[in-house]
Amino acid sequence: MDKKEAEKEIARLTALIEEHNYKYYALSQPAISDYEFDKLLEKLIQLEKEHPDLVKPNSPTQRVGGFVSKEFKQVKHKYPMLSLANTYSEEELNDFDERVRKVVGDDLEYCCELKYDGLSISLIYKNGDLQQAITRGDGTQGDDITVNARTIRSIPLKLHGQGFPEEFEMRGEVYLPLKIFDKINKEREDAGDEPFANPRNCASGTLKMQDSAEVARRKLDSTLYYILGENLPYQEHYESLEHARKWGFKISEYTELVKDMKGVHNFIAKWEKKRHDLPFDIDGIVIKVNSFKQQQMLGLTAKSPRWAVAFKYQAERASTSLNSVSFQVGRTGIVTPVANLHPVLLAGTVVKRASLYNADSIKKLDIRVGDTVWVEKGGEIIPKVTEVDLSKRKPHSVPVEFPANCPECQTPLIRREGEAGYVCPNEMNCPPQIKGKIEHFVARRAMNIESMGSETIDLLFKANLVHTIADLYDLTVEQIIPLERMAEKSATNIIAGIDESKKVPFERVLFALGIRHIGETSAKKLAYHFKNMDALEKATTEQLLNVADVGEIVAKSIQEFFSNAHNKKIVEKLREKGLNFALNSEELALFSNALEGKTFVISGVFAKHSRDEMVNMIEKNGGKHVGSISAKTSYIIAGENMGPAKADKAKKLNIPLITEDEFVKMIENK
Ligand code: IVH
Repeated sequence: MDKKEAEKEIARLTALIEEHNYKYYALSQPAISDYEFDKLLEKLIQLEKEHPDLVKPNSPTQRVGGFVSKEFKQVKHKYPMLSLANTYSEEELNDFDERVRKVVGDDLEYCCELKYDGLSISLIYKNGDLQQAITRGDGTQGDDITVNARTIRSIPLKLHGQGFPEEFEMRGEVYLPLKIFDKINKEREDAGDEPFANPRNCASGTLKMQDSAEVARRKLDSTLYYILGENLPYQEHYESLEHARKWGFKISEYTELVKDMKGVHNFIAKWEKKRHDLPFDIDGIVIKVNSFKQQQMLGLTAKSPRWAVAFKYQAERASTSLNSVSFQVGRTGIVTPVANLHPVLLAGTVVKRASLYNADSIKKLDIRVGDTVWVEKGGEIIPKVTEVDLSKRKPHSVPVEFPANCPECQTPLIRREGEAGYVCPNEMNCPPQIKGKIEHFVARRAMNIESMGSETIDLLFKANLVHTIADLYDLTVEQIIPLERMAEKSATNIIAGIDESKKVPFERVLFALGIRHIGETSAKKLAYHFKNMDALEKATTEQLLNVADVGEIVAKSIQEFFSNAHNKKIVEKLREKGLNFALNSEELALFSNALEGKTFVISGVFAKHSRDEMVNMIEKNGGKHVGSISAKTSYIIAGENMGPAKADKAKKLNIPLITEDEFVKMIENK
């Protein structure tokens, strides 16, 4: 294909992909399967690889991310980002309505919207192209997070159709759908890391992450609710949003126009009931005067518009009594207090247990058995105790004491430096820790021993057949048959599953070991870097810190794990049993030491490889990739649009710039 044809084909594919993106996100009417969509995208990627000079910054191929920025540029908002006045009662809302009517009269419509619980964002479009995405910041200036916003699939990079203003801002909310939030937290818990408190915190952390490829993996979503600019083509808010949907924005499908406060109150009542069925969190509703002219008449205060108001739902809560507090021990030994409650109906489900977080929160609540407590349900699945009703406290009650010893094995608990929780240090003999480690080991994303669930593990442990993950490989069918609910068939299945797990690749074996702070991704990075267990076991702190994403804490955790005699024994036994302790030859063929000892910074946009691919290439060939330039940087791989600040710094520190092709040659000469 010559260049002219390629250009045409790229334009055709880009338009087609955008069309399908639009149907999927703006209209919620996908016209092709995910597979077909991916095929189109692959075709475009291929063509762009062949014709690097034809890649545009807003090409759909740029959504995978791969930009690593040290810090975000601060930019001033053209129009300040205001917030909304909050109301909590019908009376306060009626006051708002009265104030509005005094100014604009009774010929009035209100637009009722859901109040999404995420982070506000401002998107700037020029001639239909996304130019810049800015966080709210302090309302006057925010962070330029354009590279991260591009990874959010529901944010159009190029507008669709016609009729949009030449230049305007779309404001809205970036949020994390509940399903994805649960998945992310599950992964964190698998790695022994603290989960996010709620979807909003997770979305906020994600949007400000420095590695946009990681942002892309987190799958944020967006909803837009406010258009701003000069000479807007429509006279009303609702109508503008309906058109914005046609331009490709994701606009809430739950918005309603109403004539009066009766309509507003109905809307509030409806969502008060149904809000827990939504696939995302809301914390209230927003009422806006629909006519732009009337909005102008009402004007703004320094903080918020006079033409809009938020009504916040009371967090759904219920009061009940505390029967007892139990202390649960997890896989990593962390002891979590759990409130056992008199069953109570909350947001449609019966709640019997609620989280109390840790020793500090117990102290802060001053909670006592027999107390009447308030339980709340937020974005998280497990409800939490938020308050004690002191007016109902019984005489002679005594504060709940955090136990000094492990409730399961009686070992004295310890508190690790810098961490809030108490930990049972008896890793080797504390039953829930033993069982938890085995559960983690057999999990689908680890050794994938499907034939074994937590009940089986419990049986095997109680029968004294397994004490460590390595013991699984000693089991025989004969040992299992006599156990409760077992028969020859189930026993054979279990053993077959265990045998099959010996084929699981090295990176997953590493994850399965359950080393603290090592999740799926870091296990992979470590496996690719060290290539076998021996090298990892012997790695010095310095060598460990050379792996991308490995910091002091992770490095220390790895060294502690391998220097522990008990773990050493387990690892040796697993080696003898024939688990994969090294990458296989196919995987190895992709590796070299060509870049050993060299540190790279990647900057700009590249023609032939995505940023992710380049990072992968650096790591597989023994190099180190870092996000920012320092005196230790060996090379900067410079692509198109390299930032001027980076170029300056490189010059100052005398660090050579190389092109993508030169970089590839370094590896090819391996
Ligand atoms: S309108 C000038 N509409 O709530 C008014 N805000 O304190 C612009 N929010 O910062 C905001 N859903 O982050 C508006 N449907 C909605 C909203 C909404 C959520 C957030 C937004 C804003 C905050 C108000």
